[in-house]
Amino acid sequence: MTIGVINGPNLNLLGQREPALYGARSLLELLTTLRTEHPEVTIKDFQSNVEGELIDTLQAWSLDLDGIILNAGGYTHTSVALRDAIAAVDCPVIEVHLSNVHAREEFRHHSLLASECLGVIAGFGERSYHLALEHFKNILL
Ligand code: DQA
Repeated sequence: MTIGVINGPNLNLLGQREPALYGARSLLELLTTLRTEHPEVTIKDFQSNVEGELIDTLQAWSLDLDGIILNAGGYTHTSVALRDAIAAVDCPVIEVHLSNVHAREEFRHHSLLASECLGVIAGFGERSYHLALEHFKNILL
């Protein structure tokens, strides 16, 4: 089972960026813990601040991966193109967020991606990624 973890804009700054909201741990630490706690899953990861690179990776990985965990950052709330990419591929995608977007500014309450995803997990810090992975393990292993 191979799962892709795609992180969008500003998530490369995890650990330094608004730690009260997003935690004190880096993206590398998050991914290392994910791999350590789920050794039976092969985890590929990609981060970009560029919308088109996220779409290219989603399209390419969808051809042979079993599932994708996507934190699209701010593009969640703005990107028709990313939504269309999720709709275009057969690979299941779970949308995740570190913060509880529904408890924040109103513009974060709406996701353009959610309706094309298998589900959405938000508000559990980096455990949001683990919960998404648990779901893929439940349905795929
Ligand atoms: C985020 C929530 C988004 O609204 C925000 O733009 C981010 C991070 C989260 O993980 O909580 O960049 O996706």
